[in-house]
Amino acid sequence: MSDVPLHLAVIVGSTREGRLGGVVADWFVDQARKREDFDVDVIDLVDTPLPVIQQKHPVTTGEYTTPEVREFASRIGLADAFVVVTPEYNHGYPASLKLAIDSVSPEWRAKPVGFVSYGGYAGGLRAVEQLRLVFAELHATTIRETVSFHMFFTKFDENGRPREADEVNGAAKVLLDQLGWWGEALRAARAARPYAA
Ligand SMILES: Cc1cc2nc3c(=O)[nH]c(=O)nc-3n(C[C@H](O)[C@H](O)[C@H](O)COP(=O)(O)O)c2cc1C
Repeated sequence: MSDVPLHLAVIVGSTREGRLGGVVADWFVDQARKREDFDVDVIDLVDTPLPVIQQKHPVTTGEYTTPEVREFASRIGLADAFVVVTPEYNHGYPASLKLAIDSVSPEWRAKPVGFVSYGGYAGGLRAVEQLRLVFAELHATTIRETVSFHMFFTKFDENGRPREADEVNGAAKVLLDQLGWWGEALRAARAARPYAA
């Protein structure tokens, strides 16, 4: 294991007023911050305004013209690994996430992406499966193990702590261990040779 921590960007996908997903995101960020193998940047899309009217595709222009997108691109570009915290809306993922993902492009490449999802009976897994297809198009690799909360509103107490802490903390560890493996492998590979996009 490298001594240099991986830069992990945790992307909080819900921007809904009165959202409940902050509890899930806070719990996960807490788990990640306990580890020494990751430096954690929380990119909460609520605090990250991105223009809906998009500039020309970044791959064709090679630059970002709006300051908000430039700032977002720089945070995504600095990251070695990502975890997307996503709810499920109408069997998909939120529009806020799609806007964020599409706003930049090469910054995602050759990097691993893990998921923490939440929702009703399906635990947000339908959103995750769709996100896997999207990230494949961006040359990112997705992590098999997912932390998924079905009926998530029953899974945390009034203080925002998980009711079955051992189980879910263990699931977060597995996800972060796998993300760390891929993150280190791909960081070394990117340093050795530019990715052949
Ligand atoms: C527009 C909308 C659509 C939803 N569709 C689903 C769904 O398809 N499956 C599901 O499990 N939950 C669905 N839900 C319930 C969400 O899982 C629940 O409201 C959750 O709190 C949303 O996350 P958030 O509060 O962080 O935005 C939906 C909620 C909204 C607002």
